[in-house]
Amino acid sequence: MSLVFPRLSTKTFHSKKEKRIMAEVNASPLKHFVTAKKKINGIFEQLGAYIKESASFLEDAYKSEELDPVATEEQVQEVEGYLAKVTGIGEVLARRHMKVVFFGRTSNGKSSVINAMLCDKVLPSGIGHTTNCFLRVEGTDGNEAFILTGGSEERKNIKTVNQLAHALHQDEDLDAGSLVCVMWPKAKCALLRDDLVLVDSPGIDVTTELDSWIDKFCLDADVFVLVANSESTLMQTEKSFFHKVNERLSSPNIFILNNRWDASASEPEYMEEVRRQHMDRCTNFLVDELGVVDRAQASDRIFFVSAKEVLQARVQKAQGMPEAGGALAEGFQARMFEFQNFERRFEECISQSAVKTKFEQHTVRAKQISEALRHIMDSVYIAAQEQRVYCLETKEDRQDRLEFIDKQLDLLTMDCKSKIKKITEEVERQVSNAMADEIRKLHVLVDDFHMDFHPSPVVLKVYKNELHRHIEEGLGKNMSERCSTSISSALQTTQNDMIEGLKPLLPSAMREQVDKLVPRNQCFSLSYDLACDKLCSDFQEDISFHFSLGWTMLVNRFLGPKNTRRVLMGYNEQVPRPMALTPVSTSMPPFPQSAMTQEELMVSMVTGLASLTSRTSMGVLVVGGVIWKAVGWRLIALSLGLYGLLYIYERLTWTTKAKERAFKRQFVDYASEKLQLIVSYTGSNCSHQVQQELAGVFAQLCQQVDITRQNLEDGITDMNSKIELLDSLQSKAKLLRTTFPRIHLNQIPEPPPLAPFDVEE
Ligand code: GTP
Ligand code: MG
Repeated sequence: MSLVFPRLSTKTFHSKKEKRIMAEVNASPLKHFVTAKKKINGIFEQLGAYIKESASFLEDAYKSEELDPVATEEQVQEVEGYLAKVTGIGEVLARRHMKVVFFGRTSNGKSSVINAMLCDKVLPSGIGHTTNCFLRVEGTDGNEAFILTGGSEERKNIKTVNQLAHALHQDEDLDAGSLVCVMWPKAKCALLRDDLVLVDSPGIDVTTELDSWIDKFCLDADVFVLVANSESTLMQTEKSFFHKVNERLSSPNIFILNNRWDASASEPEYMEEVRRQHMDRCTNFLVDELGVVDRAQASDRIFFVSAKEVLQARVQKAQGMPEAGGALAEGFQARMFEFQNFERRFEECISQSAVKTKFEQHTVRAKQISEALRHIMDSVYIAAQEQRVYCLETKEDRQDRLEFIDKQLDLLTMDCKSKIKKITEEVERQVSNAMADEIRKLHVLVDDFHMDFHPSPVVLKVYKNELHRHIEEGLGKNMSERCSTSISSALQTTQNDMIEGLKPLLPSAMREQVDKLVPRNQCFSLSYDLACDKLCSDFQEDISFHFSLGWTMLVNRFLGPKNTRRVLMGYNEQVPRPMALTPVSTSMPPFPQSAMTQEELMVSMVTGLASLTSRTSMGVLVVGGVIWKAVGWRLIALSLGLYGLLYIYERLTWTTKAKERAFKRQFVDYASEKLQLIVSYTGSNCSHQVQQELAGVFAQLCQQVDITRQNLEDGITDMNSKIELLDSLQSKAKLLRTTFPRIHLNQIPEPPPLAPFDVEE
């Protein structure tokens, strides 16, 4: 019977998938742990990077100057906590390995089994009590083996197993409960490359400190191997130790190696019987007593091997000698195969168990953390969304308001213009009427003027100036008495209307300001600015004595003063003398030019008559003679006497007082005529003032509206930039949120399918 350990290399595989599956199957099951470790380390690295990014993102979101915070301080701290946690877990994971501990009574071959698995004489073994403390065999990257004792960092180089044994025996501090690390070059052993740590123990029959052993060396063990002696039966010490282990750890993975099975070759007739006996007892122990495995799977946990033979064969093979050479007992191949079978089952078990116990909880933790982060990103997203909606609403609100203000302002401007037009027209009408009235009553004003009058030109000049001032003041006062109240109340009403109209366009804070800004209570007074002195500068009084029955006066009485002068001077004044104009009268309508009228025709006729009369004075005498003859000399003498008396009377009564009266009368006539000319001008001047006043108020109000508009526009720009910021925050939060779940979807890979393990004949 030849036993072959098929690695399926005899078949040819064509498809890539088949090749990949075969590669997985042929690889050591320990690779499952290695791959999973790499994977989970990658996951945690990635998670760490994401959390770092998230932490800085949240910090920015929390401390943003432009926006209201969309993240809370607690969230920032929470994520920073996760970062520390994930970094810590990552460090722990990087140090994770699979750990198997070998127990059994002294000389059962624990050290031999480890050596056989390592394919080299690494640990000392021999008859009697050999291993006196715990030995932990671990891989090292260097080429030199060394040991570390008692947790110290001091390395003791060892070249041979004898040196190790010597070193262990020399160290008097070492007792059964202490630990020595044997660092063995990974290059020399495949098992150690795959993160496997093997722990050898002193025989359990040599100690009473089993409990402390369990606490110190077994709590993180993935698999326990009970090395039993097939030459005897399972002892109570061994059983009770595993009972203790079973109490402390939930469902430990236990393998039982019935070692020294080569001894059975000397009694082949009892071999099957002994094997069955051992099998039953071991199965009962695992299934019934410990309950760590199902009866169906128990056979995968119990093996009959010879560590000594396997070690020998492997060492020989390594030295290039035939594997089965030397003095090997009958049935070596079967035992060899069974040892390999044990190794395979053990590797599968330990890698799966270690992945489960050492990584699963961390995967769950990673998943929880990524869930929590996703939750945080969700809330950031929602907070940003809420703020964005608020910003959008505010923006729309401001836009609407802006539109409303623009439309309303247009309407109000039109309304105000028409109101201003109306009131200015009204003012113009009122002022014109008032002025016309005042002109009619000008004589009263002039009569009220009292000052020493004297016909001398110097005094007259002063008199005129004072009179001008008196009229200016008097007219102004009278006019404002007539108009001011109604005009200012109309003005006030219009101002109020304008303010009330514009107020709704302003924010409430500004509304109160508007009342202060516009000088509503300030009394507006019209300035009439009649400029009497200039208007009447051309006034020429005539205060020389004129006899009322004199020739000049008679002509004057019939033809008026203007034409009299023409008659008396004997010429036609065709070009009218230019009128005195006030300096502000540039915009006044041109004075009407005198034209040739009927009156003038009459004048020329009388002029002709007069010149005819003077030329024929002789004719007068003749006429006088005729009258003499007709009425008699007495009547003529009486008439002449009366005429003379009248003349004397008039001459005597022509005092300064009379002259002043004449002066005033002439002045009233002249000034009335002149003032009449500027009536419409004054009216429009006043209405212009009112218009200016109202336009000023309106401009001030518009300025306030402009400030409001500007504020609204600034607000809209502000909202736009906020919305932009929130958009980018949201998309970042969304990105981070969707990338997190990808991590937890990357589960730790499933263990590869179990290798077919058939025996070929
Ligand atoms: P302690 O360290 O003292 O607890 O003993 P141990 O369990 O480590 O046993 P060790 O490996 O030192 O082996 C004890 C003796 O048994 C050695 O002389 C080995 O050569 C021998 N031995 C180990 N395994 C086998 C085996 O499978 N068959 C035979 N015939 N001898 C073995
Ligand atoms: Mg030993």
